[in-house]
Amino acid sequence: MSKKIFSGVQPTGNLHLGNYLGAIKNFVSLQKDKQNNCIYCVVDLHAITVKQDPKILKKNIRETTATFVASGLNPKESIIFNQSMVPSHSEGAWLLGCVARMGWLNRMTQFKEKAGKDKEKASVGLYIYPILMASDILLYDATHVPVGEDQKQHLELTRDIAQKFNLDFDCKNFLTSPEPLIQKDFSRIMSLKDGTKKMSKSDPSDQSRINMTDDKDLIVSKIKKAKTDSAKLPENDKDINNRPELKNLYGIFSSIQNQALDLTIEEFKGKNFSEFKNKLAEALVEKIYPISNETNKLLNDEKFIDQILLDGSEKAEAIAKKKVNDIKNIIGF
Ligand code: AMP
Ligand code: TRP
Repeated sequence: MSKKIFSGVQPTGNLHLGNYLGAIKNFVSLQKDKQNNCIYCVVDLHAITVKQDPKILKKNIRETTATFVASGLNPKESIIFNQSMVPSHSEGAWLLGCVARMGWLNRMTQFKEKAGKDKEKASVGLYIYPILMASDILLYDATHVPVGEDQKQHLELTRDIAQKFNLDFDCKNFLTSPEPLIQKDFSRIMSLKDGTKKMSKSDPSDQSRINMTDDKDLIVSKIKKAKTDSAKLPENDKDINNRPELKNLYGIFSSIQNQALDLTIEEFKGKNFSEFKNKLAEALVEKIYPISNETNKLLNDEKFIDQILLDGSEKAEAIAKKKVNDIKNIIGF
């Protein structure tokens, strides 16, 4: 069955292994199925829900786009664009914001985490962030949305908004409720310094993550220094429970090699940590370094990257504008 795929990544710098294994790798495999229509967005309007330096934001928009392309997304096969160049996203967010309920937004855990203790100081944008995300998805009638596990709640909110709109305006099936596509295994990549914390762009320690622009030596040294415990390597999958750092490193290895966790356990049974870490570093260098190298090459040609975004935005706006017009008609404008 043909699927309409939509997903987005924030251009907030430090794109990392978690973004790649949790999301971008999946974007590329979905593009491979020729029946799918894929749309991938650099969500720069979402990025400004927290303070950004204008010059760095511009650089990060290009860097995220370059990483998409270097990872295997092809602008001839998928629509690749940035959100701020398609004004319909903001317009849709306003229209849908009048359908969404405060009570729904108050439950969003990402807002609670990002706003921290002093909620009063968070931007209003950060609070209504999930409505803009719903607009991104619903304007394209997306049927499937590949994301990491942390976005599941936002997808549920998107479905609630779609259903309420259809009900309020008596237009059954007009807005499509999207399905999240969350990888079954290894959907949350954790910090290399603390296996209970998500690998994140905003972690102050660069050692906590493998960035998609790291060179070979840096990848190797980060893996060498990654936190582990002192028990021996696991004999079976029970041995892995309650060992968050080990579980994470085994997950990363399995995901990179496209193999089940059981096989990884079998492969390293009875071996020592340094042997496993060497193999892990090798596998990462083999998969990630070509992407980082290509990203850096692409970044030398800003015009090329800008043209991809311009072309993509034109295609996206044609689709999104039509849907916004339909929404406005239904609302009574
Ligand atoms: P963001 O950087 O927040 O825009 O995230 C882009 C995509 O990467 C989203 O689909 C996230 O769910 C996914 N993602 C971010 N961090 C991780 C992580 N540590 N593990 C798995 N997926 C992640
Ligand atoms: N909120 C997502 C994240 O932080 C990014 C995002 C914005 C997104 N709009 C989207 C993801 C639409 C999927 C679909 O990762």
